[in-house]
Amino acid sequence: MGLLIQLFDSLEGSPLQTSAITAVASVSIFIASLASLVVYYNSSSKTIKPLPAKIANNKARKLGTWKPEDYKLPVPPAYPEWDIKTFKPLPYRAFKHKYNVTMGIRNMDPNSWIELDNEWNKFHDLKMKRIEEKGEEVYGTLPEAKAASLELLEELRKFLPARYPSLFERTADGMKNLETGEVHRMVEPLLEDPMLTVARLLQDDVAIMIENEQGEYYLKGGCIMLAGFWRLKDKFNTSLSTIHTSGDVPKYNTHLKKGMEKFFVRLTPEAPVVRNNYFIQTDDNLDWSSSIGDEDNETVGWYTADPAKSVEKIWYRSERQSVRRLPITGAVIFTIRTYFLPLTEMCKEPYVPKRLLDGIESWSDDVREYRGYDKFYEVVLPYLREKVAEQAAMGYTDENEAEQYPF
Ligand SMILES: *[C@@H]1O[C@H](CO)[C@@H](O)[C@H](O)[C@H]1NC(C)=O
Ligand SMILES: *[C@@H]1O[C@H](CO)[C@@H](O)[C@H](O)[C@H]1NC(C)=O
Ligand SMILES: *[C@@H]1O[C@H](CO)[C@@H](O)[C@H](O)[C@H]1NC(C)=O
Repeated sequence: MGLLIQLFDSLEGSPLQTSAITAVASVSIFIASLASLVVYYNSSSKTIKPLPAKIANNKARKLGTWKPEDYKLPVPPAYPEWDIKTFKPLPYRAFKHKYNVTMGIRNMDPNSWIELDNEWNKFHDLKMKRIEEKGEEVYGTLPEAKAASLELLEELRKFLPARYPSLFERTADGMKNLETGEVHRMVEPLLEDPMLTVARLLQDDVAIMIENEQGEYYLKGGCIMLAGFWRLKDKFNTSLSTIHTSGDVPKYNTHLKKGMEKFFVRLTPEAPVVRNNYFIQTDDNLDWSSSIGDEDNETVGWYTADPAKSVEKIWYRSERQSVRRLPITGAVIFTIRTYFLPLTEMCKEPYVPKRLLDGIESWSDDVREYRGYDKFYEVVLPYLREKVAEQAAMGYTDENEAEQYPF
């Protein structure tokens, strides 16, 4: 039984049930340790000179502390032929013939940390609308994440103008957006919540996770605006394990907790990872999947959803998630970039219907429940079978498929 997919899937949140109440319990015992961590981060980022990883020896650190390391993510080259009007979303088709809960952690090419494309404006506009409507329900930075958020801004300021020079221009104290004309101040004193600034730059949602003395990771800062199935306000200031438990992630406590925590504790700045997942969604709302319930309702989940009636209403949602540890503060940055398109459009692609059909048919019962299978299988499976037959007649069969996960 695998560990890591569940780790990240839980951060995506569970369509089953998100309840603000469960989130509050069980954190209070960590108050003391977090307080000491705050002090540590605040002082460390200003006074301690970054050291080579070997000397900093964070491997042997006392949990909840971090000595700044001198590692620098390589400054990326400009993305070849990238243009905000013409560069299409990367075609992540992150399903296999056999669903496997262990799938998917890959080393991250540092150049690919942040992926942007010709849907940038659409994502940006929707985020601005979300900020206006939801305010601090969709972003925030606790004092414990302040230093990390400043480091994150600095990392973005190094990365984005180098990678996407036609969109971002570095300025003396931040960046300018050449598309919208927005000017972002990215050094202290900031003009707004740092995670609000992060939200304005990226198509991704972002979470900052901070380690405590027990080696548990707490969501202490974030801009989560387009997550579809989960709400920042339910998970803010809670630990990974609380997030999982409140998210009803299948087999979390028995199979997943230990390995997941180990993974986070051991993550190093020079070895970031990515993974992809996929969901079937029964409406076309990128920001909040309204078919699982009203976003403002106390409890929402697949169990409140009506079964989908037509395949035209089915959308494919795939997240590309990156996990990096920042070298100076040691905070873990989790990015969640959603790729979202109609199922019928995706199924025009060779081999896709068969692979997706096989994948869904191999889900176990708990995965089915977690992913809302009951609400869409009656329209999705017959449709996929029809497309499989059509494609088989054209020669697109498994024997000819050159699988290149995650595409
Ligand atoms: C965050 O949680 C800690 C306990 O883990 C608590 O002391 C603190 O007051 C919480 N902060 C906010 C803003 O709710
Ligand atoms: C599923 O994961 C297990 C455990 O890591 C691995 O041994 C197996 O090869 C994987 N199966 C597939 C189909 O990827
Ligand atoms: C909230 O969800 C419950 C359970 O599905 C439902 O009965 C109720 O009508 C919902 N309330 C609102 C305001 O949507």
